[in-house]
Amino acid sequence: MAAHGFLLASLVLSFLAEICYGVTFSSLQRTLVVTSSTKAGEVLKAGQDQLTVTWSFNETFPAGTDSAYKTVKVKLCYAPVSQVDRAWRKTVDNLDKDKTCQFKVVAKPYSPSNNSFTWTVEKDIPTATYFVRAYVYNSNGDAAAFGQTTDAHKTINLFEIQAITGRHVSLDIASVCFSAFSIVSLFGFFYMEKRKGKLAQQK
Ligand SMILES: *[C@@H]1O[C@H](CO)[C@@H](O)[C@H](O)[C@H]1NC(C)=O
Ligand SMILES: *[C@@H]1O[C@H](CO)[C@@H](O)[C@H](O)[C@H]1NC(C)=O
Repeated sequence: MAAHGFLLASLVLSFLAEICYGVTFSSLQRTLVVTSSTKAGEVLKAGQDQLTVTWSFNETFPAGTDSAYKTVKVKLCYAPVSQVDRAWRKTVDNLDKDKTCQFKVVAKPYSPSNNSFTWTVEKDIPTATYFVRAYVYNSNGDAAAFGQTTDAHKTINLFEIQAITGRHVSLDIASVCFSAFSIVSLFGFFYMEKRKGKLAQQK
């Protein structure tokens, strides 16, 4: 009975926590103007190519809209075409559960204008189609606003990143060499053992 009560209480609590603390993407105002140096359809190579992101407060919103803004986090996000059949990249309105934007580009204190950051695409970024989104956080650390390089449907100004393949090739070569070396050593070992055996018999 007590166990039931406890279970019910924790269910209710987690439900309330969900409602009260789960900031949703749809509740955020798009008050930042975000642009990227990438051209639509451009292909960037991971570990090598760079992109420059700029962001600023959209002045058509009333002055003071941004008075509680504290920090900005710029992220690389999967475009819908790269989310199909991949639950681990799924878009969820509750930002705690959203998997759209998994790669941090940069985090900076909020400033209404003159923000820019040049980023070399990190080596571990997977091949996919992306856009850039910036989240604004208030002093509680809650998301308060955003801006992105694409439209609401995430269909324009998308770019691609091509993962590194060179590293895998050299790893493969290394493992082939290692296996060949192991096989040769193994045969060598048997040969030596056999020889030893024969020598022992001859004595
Ligand atoms: C600024 O915000 C207004 C209102 O939401 C919007 O119509 C306009 O396109 C935005 N400007 C830019 C440059 O994104
Ligand atoms: C923008 O930033 C650059 C470089 O940090 C600086 O030289 C320039 O004065 C800034 N402009 C404004 C309007 O703050």
